[in-house]
Amino acid sequence: MSNTEKDRVIIFDTTLRDGEQSPGATMTHEEKLEIAGLLDDMGVDVIEAGFPIASEGDFRAVSEIAKASRNSVICGLARANFGDIDRCWDAVKHAPQPRIHTFIGTSPLHRAIPNLTMDEMAERIHDTVTHARNLCDNIQWSPMDATRTEEDYLCRTVEIAIKAGATTINIPDTVGYTAPRESADLIRMLINKVPGADEIIFATHCHNDLGMATANSLAAVEGGARQIECTINGLGERAGNTALEEVVMALKVRGDIMPYTTGIDTRKIMNISRRVAAVSGFAVQFNKAIVGKNAFAHESGIHQDGMLKNAETFEIMRPEDVGLTETNIVMGKHSGRAALRSKLENLGFELGDNQLKDVFVRFKELADRKKEIFDDDLVALMRTSVDPEKERLKVKSLRVVCGTEGPQEAALTMIVDGKVVSTTATGDGPVDATFNAVKELFDHNARLQLYQVHAVTEGTDAQATVSVRMEEDGKIVTGQSADTDTVVASAKAYVSALNRLLVRRETTDVGYDTKGVSYKDVS
Ligand code: KIV
Ligand code: ZN
Repeated sequence: MSNTEKDRVIIFDTTLRDGEQSPGATMTHEEKLEIAGLLDDMGVDVIEAGFPIASEGDFRAVSEIAKASRNSVICGLARANFGDIDRCWDAVKHAPQPRIHTFIGTSPLHRAIPNLTMDEMAERIHDTVTHARNLCDNIQWSPMDATRTEEDYLCRTVEIAIKAGATTINIPDTVGYTAPRESADLIRMLINKVPGADEIIFATHCHNDLGMATANSLAAVEGGARQIECTINGLGERAGNTALEEVVMALKVRGDIMPYTTGIDTRKIMNISRRVAAVSGFAVQFNKAIVGKNAFAHESGIHQDGMLKNAETFEIMRPEDVGLTETNIVMGKHSGRAALRSKLENLGFELGDNQLKDVFVRFKELADRKKEIFDDDLVALMRTSVDPEKERLKVKSLRVVCGTEGPQEAALTMIVDGKVVSTTATGDGPVDATFNAVKELFDHNARLQLYQVHAVTEGTDAQATVSVRMEEDGKIVTGQSADTDTVVASAKAYVSALNRLLVRRETTDVGYDTKGVSYKDVS
């Protein structure tokens, strides 16, 4: 490695693969392309765009992201079998810089699933990495659950993968089990012991089960890793992955003790964080580092006073470093379409003419009800922006009776496949009554898994953002909506989740989407 390579950390973003694997985070094809474009634009070195064998949809998304890519390497995931690897290559080969990422679980628990002996697995690694390398020059290999794999066996498998042509070796902490010192030591040990280790790049891929993913990733860099795998907002399986914004900003702010650079334009972080929250349905917690709503907020008198005198008293980075523009009153009922478009562009949303038309109508409706429209109101509006052509179900009107004397009642009119239908239902509270009414008008077996309400801004006229997550036969979908009336937002969020479910019913076979792929099937 040259000196500059030694000091540079490659940022590998897996929001569209590992992130999308988190329960409920399903993005549409267009959303995936949009996020990939933003990642490329922000300077992400490698984008893991999906798992091409998982479904037709994933294959198409990876292929199109590959075709549209400009600067980033485009990577696809493949299990340790020729079929997966060929399919992956067919998708990523369209990229100017393609990469195949193939993996197998090497720990005792993971070896037991395909029931392979250590020798059989070693042979499998040799054969599959060789096959991948014959297709593509850029090969990443991962021993899944590396941090719980016997050290000797890990060294043996890494050596085989390097000899077979892997150019990046990723060391995943699949279950978020390691701790910082151990994470650094593991990479250091591999670099010292494995023949050929100095010819390749070591990567770190940490899950956040014990809340240590970011610390473990940075420690791995201290140990010699030069690629960090991460996701926007830390999205991912269970407690998620290392958050891109955290590692990138930690390296930027603490360059004194961690002198490694990345190619990320940090001023684009806030926009992409907002977009990923919107399309994935996973709102960012208020106290999340870097991108949470409170990350740069100061409430106590002492803090506010200090901030006015010198911002550095309580801030270790400037809000504008991550692209945070002050939340201000931006628009009102007299604002025009051009002003709305320009404001949304500042917030990171690029709209086509039809989309703008739809958002403008909803913006005007909101402005009629709410005097002051803040940036966050517009972001909430965008979060619920839908393609009207794809909506089979729509809320037309809703009137609820609520109060201290139950049962609460909801009179709901919906449009179902173009037909206007109405009903009145009761329930334990106005939201329950409303959901019962939706169910009467459109019968379904989907189970409500999550119902969440957030106030977008302050004040009693604030919009409420409602998120719902539903499950039907293993398919999980989310829906969001925002409205100054919490019950209306709830009805629309519920109906939006149902619309997504109807799309998924048509486009995905049961058990054959990303979430249905079995790691067991390595042959
Ligand atoms: O966490 C993990 O082990 C993974 C692998 C597929 C690299 O995501
Ligand atoms: Zn992972």
